[in-house]
Amino acid sequence: SLCSVCCRNTAEGRMESSFSNIVSSVGPVAVLILTVLLVHYWWRRAGNKVKGNPPPPLIPSSLPFIGAAVSFGKDPINYLLAAHSKYGNVFSFNMVGSTFTYLIGSDSTSLFFNSRNESLNAEEVYSRLVTPVFGKGVAYDVPHDLFVEQKKMLKYGLSVSHFRRYVPLIETETTKYFERWGDKGERDIFKALSELIILTASRCLHGPEIRSVLNEEVAQLYTDLDGGFTHAAWLLPSWLPLPSFKKRDKARERMAEIFTSVIKKRREMPNNQEDDILSYLITTTYKDGRSLTDSEITGLLIGLLMAGQHTSSSTSSWLGFFLARHSDYQTRAYEEQLEVCGSNCPPLDYDQLKDLTFLDCCLKETLRLRPPIMTMMRMAKTEQDVGGYTIPAGHQVCVSPTVNHQLNENWTDPQTFNPDRFVDEELSNSEKFSYVPFGAGRHRCIGESFAYVQIKTIWSVLLRKYQFELVGGVFPPVNYQTMIHTPTQPVIAYKLRQ
Ligand code: HEM
Repeated sequence: SLCSVCCRNTAEGRMESSFSNIVSSVGPVAVLILTVLLVHYWWRRAGNKVKGNPPPPLIPSSLPFIGAAVSFGKDPINYLLAAHSKYGNVFSFNMVGSTFTYLIGSDSTSLFFNSRNESLNAEEVYSRLVTPVFGKGVAYDVPHDLFVEQKKMLKYGLSVSHFRRYVPLIETETTKYFERWGDKGERDIFKALSELIILTASRCLHGPEIRSVLNEEVAQLYTDLDGGFTHAAWLLPSWLPLPSFKKRDKARERMAEIFTSVIKKRREMPNNQEDDILSYLITTTYKDGRSLTDSEITGLLIGLLMAGQHTSSSTSSWLGFFLARHSDYQTRAYEEQLEVCGSNCPPLDYDQLKDLTFLDCCLKETLRLRPPIMTMMRMAKTEQDVGGYTIPAGHQVCVSPTVNHQLNENWTDPQTFNPDRFVDEELSNSEKFSYVPFGAGRHRCIGESFAYVQIKTIWSVLLRKYQFELVGGVFPPVNYQTMIHTPTQPVIAYKLRQ
């Protein structure tokens, strides 16, 4: 009280006096709570978390800067599976100056697929790789909302009514292509299917004019563009004067010239009657009423082809090797052709294709064991809470379909190729992200149904024509050097079916 008397004459004294009045009226417990809340508020404002979760466990590495690049690069899947058994469902490691955080299993993965693009951002990680190949003004080079509009436009040509028209086109291209294989031999099936996928995708998705100019020059341009999808392009700035970057940029320029002249001719046609994606892109508008420029149309058409190129050619090659290894499944898939389509194997149609359910299961199982996109990535723009950890902003957050597809907790005997697992099994809701070959959420693949139509048509033709075997009984190991995990030395043995 002495103190209160002597302080009463100063401003400080008046404050202290009212503070002690509050204390005596509301009680020390309430003041304590108030103080804790204030400290919490100030602490949050300073950018900290009072009871923040720890960051995910960081896998140690003795190599500065390079970090885990060498061990991860050698065998990424086993690296991730080993890390999962040691560290659990969320863990981080450093590689060439960036921190990568992997989310494993359906539960943790849901953060990745349910997040907004502003929180876990795709363009920041994909643009450097994709924009020099597709071109500017499309996909990851534009704000996400615009890309969403562009994807909606592309979906025009990915409808069932269009698929009905695509099946005979793909069948004709495939039959013609494989005439060169003769009655029997050993050939690189990945090379053949890569060429065939370009021809069929271009015929269906680009239209007859662009397909008709697909000669050796254009095939080489695609190869050079494709050379843009490398680990180097992903890690290094795109302006570096590397030979592969220069080839990629020249090929993009030449492709733009070819596409622009086709677009110009279509624009000049008085009654543009073609009912295909190209005509649709020429006539449609964005929500704000603006038409697409020739450069945007070119970018979207190149993007559409490239998105399905490696993914479908690698998947259809792996399907061939799995069927060659398991002759019993190959026989069942062939017999299904006769049962569903008729013993004289008439030309295929879309409805028959849908009824080829065993072939469908073989394709699903191939996509489980060899999903072409081994890792999907996003940049964490804000802190992300998952599984008791807080992922700091700036981490590259990743999900690997390949790893999710091999977890013992979700799959019986995961290493075995068993198409029958898809015959009656439906994944439960809690397991929904344990099978994600086409991704999920806002960046989900728009080409899934087209890929099924394309691959099932090609393999129907092949199963009807040939019997396949592994060369020397050797199943090709995975080539981890390419961004999409293709078969190493992909040579297959074939002979005409009796
Ligand atoms: C996205 C896989 C074929 C067009 C994706 C994604 C995956 C995927 C995993 C998600 C990427 C991510 O979330 O980061 C596949 C597989 C294919 C295939 C396994 C074949 C077996 C195709 C085809 C097309 C296509 C044929 C085009 C006709 C796209 C597009 C996206 C996409 C436009 C959207 C990217 C985004 O919104 O960010 N694909 N894809 N894909 N795919 Fe496919």
